[in-house]
Amino acid sequence: MQGYTVKTLTQFIIEQQASIPYATGEFSRLLYHIGVAAKIVNKKVNKAGLVDILGEAGHVNVQGEAQKKLDLMANWQFIQSLRNSRECCGIASEEDQEVITWDDDQLTRDGNYVVCMDPLDGSSNIDVNVSIGTIFGIYRRISPRGERVTMDDFMQPGHKQVAAGYVIYGSSTMLVYTAGNGVFGFTLDPSIGEFCLSNFLIKTPAEGRIYSVNEGNFEHFPQGVKDYIRYCQGVDKPTGRPYSTRYIGSLVADFHRNLLKGGIYMYPPTAAAPNGKLRLLYECNPIAFIAEQAGGRASNGAERILDIQPESIHQRMPFYVGSAHMVQKVEELLSHEG
Ligand code: AHG
Ligand code: MN
Ligand code: MN
Repeated sequence: MQGYTVKTLTQFIIEQQASIPYATGEFSRLLYHIGVAAKIVNKKVNKAGLVDILGEAGHVNVQGEAQKKLDLMANWQFIQSLRNSRECCGIASEEDQEVITWDDDQLTRDGNYVVCMDPLDGSSNIDVNVSIGTIFGIYRRISPRGERVTMDDFMQPGHKQVAAGYVIYGSSTMLVYTAGNGVFGFTLDPSIGEFCLSNFLIKTPAEGRIYSVNEGNFEHFPQGVKDYIRYCQGVDKPTGRPYSTRYIGSLVADFHRNLLKGGIYMYPPTAAAPNGKLRLLYECNPIAFIAEQAGGRASNGAERILDIQPESIHQRMPFYVGSAHMVQKVEELLSHEG
């Protein structure tokens, strides 16, 4: 039987590192450890229906939402892996009110990177066997190495990310990431336990035919968003309208589909939630970086997501992301509002 040739995530990281003069390997080690955590979380997610780790954990997270047990497990797993890498000196996680640091641990304090993460995205889908994900954004610290990490290390605009990615625990498990030179996708081959390069230099279509939004909130959306949704529903042969609605309710899964097929994901503001629902640091920024690297666009309706100066680690932001022409169109309609 003939073997098949694969390029694993680890191999790919090593090759990428070799192509950068004077690269120290620190960043490669960090990514490697994220891959390890993703594999462990994947195992637990796969087994979720079999063992008693489903359901609410009883706590309420900093957003006031009930936490599921898998959220806590994924959070713990990524924290341990990032700590083990010795390259991460601090983490902002959806599941922790405060930034996580290891000030007692000099080796970790020496780390050069901070990570913002949503350890388990789409948690309302856990109990019903629908795709969920992990999202991460990586920044080089600006405070001196060896000292305590500071809030300024986390308050960097998204364009300062050195890498970002997500893991999707779906019908296959994939890790998609960018380090600023294109977007690469790796599919987990469960038979060998490795992420294998499957999507080389992902590019998203400039125009798509899918729109993804929680349309149940339609009456509460800004007029420009209502106008855009009506536009998507309009009948027009040349532009291929009406478009299709697809909404899973897991940002990672909705974005991933639209990235490959072309489409727009929207989480607009409402009167009750004037900044929408999604979190700038660990949902919007990493996804925006990937979208732009794939030729797409990401905006809060008026401003490029990656240019926004963060003010707090859990802040929310309206989010429009995906095919460039579609995001431009909704921005244009929003700009007509008084
Ligand atoms: P999380 O599970 O990390 O809290 O994120 C859920 C987010 C996002 O993944 C999803 O697209 C959105 O919430 C869905 O919100 P609605 O149920 O309001 O549509
Ligand atoms: Mn989320
Ligand atoms: Mn989450």
